[in-house]
Amino acid sequence: MQVQHLSVGIRQGRRYLLGVDDIGFQVQAGEMVGILGESGCGKTLTALSILGLLPPGIQVTRGTIRFDGLDLRGLSEREFCGIRGQALSMVFQEPMSSLNPVLTIGRQIAEPLRLHGRKNKGLIEAQVLDMMSELGLPEPVKLAAAYPHQLSGGMRQRVLLALAMVCKPKLLIADEATTALDLSTQAQILHRLKRINQDLGTSILFISHDLGVISRLCDRLLVMYAGKVLEEGTVEAVFADPRHEYTKGLMGSIPQQERKGKPLISIPGKVPSIEEKPQGCPFAPRCSRAMAQCRVRFPNPLSLSGDHQVYCMRETEYV
Ligand SMILES: Nc1ncnc2c1ncn2[C@@H]1O[C@H](COP(=O)(O)OP(=O)(O)OP(=O)(O)O)[C@@H](O)[C@H]1O
Ligand SMILES: [Mg+2]
Repeated sequence: MQVQHLSVGIRQGRRYLLGVDDIGFQVQAGEMVGILGESGCGKTLTALSILGLLPPGIQVTRGTIRFDGLDLRGLSEREFCGIRGQALSMVFQEPMSSLNPVLTIGRQIAEPLRLHGRKNKGLIEAQVLDMMSELGLPEPVKLAAAYPHQLSGGMRQRVLLALAMVCKPKLLIADEATTALDLSTQAQILHRLKRINQDLGTSILFISHDLGVISRLCDRLLVMYAGKVLEEGTVEAVFADPRHEYTKGLMGSIPQQERKGKPLISIPGKVPSIEEKPQGCPFAPRCSRAMAQCRVRFPNPLSLSGDHQVYCMRETEYV
C-alpha cells in the first residue's frame, strides 16, 4: 500500500477544510504499521479514504492511493466492491453495531466468501470454522449457530476479525479495534492480531491512540497530529531517538520502566480543531522549540539514519 500526498476535505458551506492534509506513507507486504494520534487528528478519515468509504460531504481532494498495483482512487464502486472484504479488509471499533442481530455468527462470517463468488457450501463452512479456530473462538461449530447477542463483547470482536480475515486479505485495516474492550480482552485480541500478521503474513494498518500498544505490536509507526504526519519510522528508531517535540511529549506521557519515579509529562495546550488549524506546522503553538518559520510553512521531511523521518523545521535547520 502506498499513499502519497493524501488530503481529505470536509465540506463546510462552500469550502473544504482539510481533515487529512498532504500525508504519505507505505505499508509493505507482511508489515504491521501503526498510525498513532490523538482524537480528531485524521486517523479514521485516512482509513476510510483507503477503503473508499468516506461519508457524503467528505472526499479525497488530492493524492494517490496505490494498493497491490491498483490505483484505488481510479476504481469504480463496483470494482472497489471486488477487492473490499477480499484483498483489503477492515475491523472497526463497534462490535455491537457491526454485526447483524438476526443472522447467525456462521452465516455472517461466511458472507464475504459468498459475496466474492465462493459457491461450494462445504468449503465455505470449512473455511469459516477454520478462521474461527484460528482466532481462538471456542467450540466453533456451536458458536457458528449462535446469534450476536449470545456472545460477550470480546467474542463479538473476534467474530468481526474472523469476518474480516475469512477471505485471507493482503491488508487488514484495524481502526481502534480494541478500544471498547476491557484490558484483558483487549490484550487477547491484540495477541490474535499479531498472530494474523506473523502466521498468515497479512499486512496490518493498526490505528490507535495508544503509543504503548503500537510500540509492542508494530514494526513501523506514523505519528499524526491535526491531519499531518509529524514523524515516522521503525518503532525502534523512533523510540531510540524521537525528534519531533510532539513525539517526545507523547513518549514522556506514558509510564516507562526507565523513567520510574519521575513524573509523567503532559503537553500543554490542546489539538486545534480543523476550523482553527494554524498555518505551517500545526503543532507550533504548543511547541517549545517553535520558530517564526514554523508558523509560515510546513517543513519537508528530513530523513534520519535508518528508516526514520521527521517533519520539523528545527531538525532540518541543523543539517
Ligand atoms: N462526518 C464528519 N463530518 C464532519 N467532520 C468530520 C466527520 N468525520 C470526521 N470529521 C472531522 O475530521 C477530523 C478528523 O477526524 P477523524 O475521525 O479522522 O479523527 P480520528 O483521528 O479518527 O479521531 P478518533 O481518535 O477520535 O477516532 C476531525 O476534526 C473531525 O471533527
Ligand atoms: Mg477514529
